[in-house]
Amino acid sequence: NIPVIAIDGPTASGKGTVAAKVAERLSFHLLDSGALYRLTALSAIRRAIDMSDEHALAKVAEHLNCSFVGHDVFLGQENVTQAIRVEEVGNTASRIAALPAVRQALFGLQLRFRTAPGLVADGRDMGTVIFPTAKLKVFLTASVAARAERRYKQLIGKGFSANMDDLLADLQARDERDTKRAVAPLAPAADAYILDSSNITAEQAVEQVLRWYAE
Ligand code: CDP
Repeated sequence: NIPVIAIDGPTASGKGTVAAKVAERLSFHLLDSGALYRLTALSAIRRAIDMSDEHALAKVAEHLNCSFVGHDVFLGQENVTQAIRVEEVGNTASRIAALPAVRQALFGLQLRFRTAPGLVADGRDMGTVIFPTAKLKVFLTASVAARAERRYKQLIGKGFSANMDDLLADLQARDERDTKRAVAPLAPAADAYILDSSNITAEQAVEQVLRWYAE
């Protein structure tokens, strides 16, 4: 019974950072499930797939030829670590993630990340749909203001320009789509610990998750 730590939450809540650090501390594998939706989006954009063609998009997801090497993400032989992070891909990912056939197509792939000695899974439905038997489920949240601020600093830090009003609007649109979709809507599992990271550092969040795991 390979242990899973499911970390779910809204966009820019710090899940990615916290999940990666927890995985590192425990020497567990890491599943960045958002990357799978982004890879599907990138692949579909490149093949000029009609974004309303659910069946065609599910096919793309089903045949995703991706691999994760350290912090890098590959599509076939190509390193797409940066390419999947651009805004257009994120937006497309958020849209196609609402399609049941796409989610279904990525189901089995996600389960295969559960290998010894353990897995930290980061996403929206890790504790509710993909790994309902996870040993620990954490729902990481933060206020909209705190999340927008973090994203702002992240973008500026990477040399991109950013506008706070646009970021807030984008965050709210994404929250809306994630929580209102018919399949796997974003919500904490009944047995999840809620962790509000608005006023704590990523390090403090990591320590809290590790304490809960050790309980
Ligand atoms: O943090 P951010 O919203 O930028 O994106 P992400 O975690 O990389 O995920 C990209 C998109 O995939 C999100 O907008 C979610 O709508 C979707 N997603 C999902 O539906 N289920 C997951 N388990 C992970 C991501």
